[in-house]
Formats: sequence, C-alpha cells, structure tokens
Amino acid sequence: MRNPAVLNLAAVIIILLITWRLAINSFDVGEKAGNVLETTTEPKCSLTRVCPSDHFALRISSGAANVVGPMICFDGKIIMSYAMNNVGAGLNIVVVNGKNGTMEKFGYLNMINGNTDDILAYLKEIKPGMIVLVASFDDLSPKMTDDIREVFVGMGSTLIKSVKRRDSWVFAGRAGTENKSLFEKQTVNDDKTNIYEGWPEMVEMGGCIPKNQTDLKGSL
Ligand SMILES: *[C@@H]1O[C@H](CO)[C@@H](O)[C@H](O)[C@H]1NC(C)=O
Ligand SMILES: *[C@@H]1O[C@H](CO)[C@@H](O)[C@H](O)[C@H]1NC(C)=O
Ligand SMILES: *[C@@H]1O[C@H](CO)[C@@H](O)[C@H](O)[C@H]1NC(C)=O
Repeated sequence: MRNPAVLNLAAVIIILLITWRLAINSFDVGEKAGNVLETTTEPKCSLTRVCPSDHFALRISSGAANVVGPMICFDGKIIMSYAMNNVGAGLNIVVVNGKNGTMEKFGYLNMINGNTDDILAYLKEIKPGMIVLVASFDDLSPKMTDDIREVFVGMGSTLIKSVKRRDSWVFAGRAGTENKSLFEKQTVNDDKTNIYEGWPEMVEMGGCIPKNQTDLKGSL
C-alpha cells in the first residue's frame, strides 16, 4: 500500500515543476519574440540589411549584353526576371504605389522596334507618387526620344540624359518628383572597358527607398 501523504507530496511537486517549466518556457518565448524582431528578420531582395519600416527594399539588375535578362525585386518579391520569362529587350519597368507598395503594373517597353508614341503614352500615364523601377536589356536606344528621356528626368533621373546605344541602365525614381534620385546606375558601352564583345558590364543596385515621401533621400 502506498502512503497517500507521499502521493500528495509527489502531486504537489509535479504541479510545481510543471508551473516552473511553463514559466521558463514563456520566458523563452518572450525572449525569442524579441529576437525575431531584431535579428531573425531577413533582409529583403538580398540586401545586406533590413530596411527601416518606412522604406521599401529594392534590387535591380540590368540585362547582360543581349543574353541574360534583367531582374527587378521590390519589397522582397522578384517581379520580373529572366527565369520568370517576363522580361524583354528595351526597358523593363515596374510601377508600384509609393505609399503602400501595391504593384500597379509591370512590363517592358520595346525600345528596339516598339512604337514611340505608345511608349511615351505608357510612361505619361504613370501617376505622381508612384515608384518606378527600370532595368535595361539589350539596347534601350533605338526608340529613345528626348520626350521619353524627359519623362524619366521628371521621375528623378539624371543619367538618362546621357544614356546611349547599348549602355546598361538601372533606375528607381518617383513620378512627379523633381529631385535627383540616388537610385540610378549606368555602365557605358565603350570598347576600352566593355567586358563582353560589343557590350558593357551589366549594372546592379540595391537599397531602401522611402515610402510616401516626395524626396528620394534613401540610402544605397
Ligand atoms: C494601396 O493604395 C492603392 C491606391 O490608394 C489602393 O488601390 C490599394 O488597394 C492599396 N493597397 C493596399 C494593400 O492597401
Ligand atoms: C506618409 O503616410 C503617413 C501615413 O499615411 C503619413 O502620416 C505621413 O505624413 C506621410 N508622409 C509623407 C511624407 O507623405
Ligand atoms: C527636394 O529636396 C529638397 C532638399 O532635400 C526638399 O526640401 C524638397 O522637399 C524636395 N522636393 C521634392 C519635390 O521632393
């Protein structure tokens, strides 16, 4: 026969143990939750750091020569890429709402044998405040006009004024802003520096772009 008093004591000890373990565990969970916010949030779009909450992550790479297509990643999602088979020669473009990051449209403007008026109309339709992400592929120059360059200047581009045949160009700006965007890079088609026969190196950039602010003082 077991002693009921011993049984009761055992029960009390077990209950104490369980309570203690629960307390330890919830402490653990609390700590883990803290860590999740600080260290286990992965940077988006392969950036080396997590963007502040009032910024969107982005990464844009141009095509390489006329062989490998470009890639546009926004807020952690690759929207256009060679692998997704939704890129094309000319200018690949993604338009997102600058406040909440919702994608409005994406596509490519065929700068080799597209219609200049259609290309211009597509660009002029983009409403102020929209964030515009652009990557070149193949050659962006055959159908380029001053009017098209002006639209990109109106989104904060400065390099577009000098972009020419077979240059690689990546850009992120905001429609309706007059300020220079920091999110822009170009490699120039020059026989002395080209790494492919007749083509410059591809160009890539990533960074955190501010949400609904009118200036583009983001950091690269
Ligand atoms: C973002 O804003 C646009 C325009 O106001 C709206 O149409 C869209 O539904 C919004 N998206 C989200 C996720 O709130
Ligand atoms: C951005 O949106 C937030 C929330 O709607 C608003 O409080 C803030 O003033 C806006 N900032 C700018 C620069 O538009
Ligand atoms: C342009 O930048 C200046 C200085 O950073 C800022 O004061 C101004 O609001 C910006 N304007 C626009 C339209 O973003």
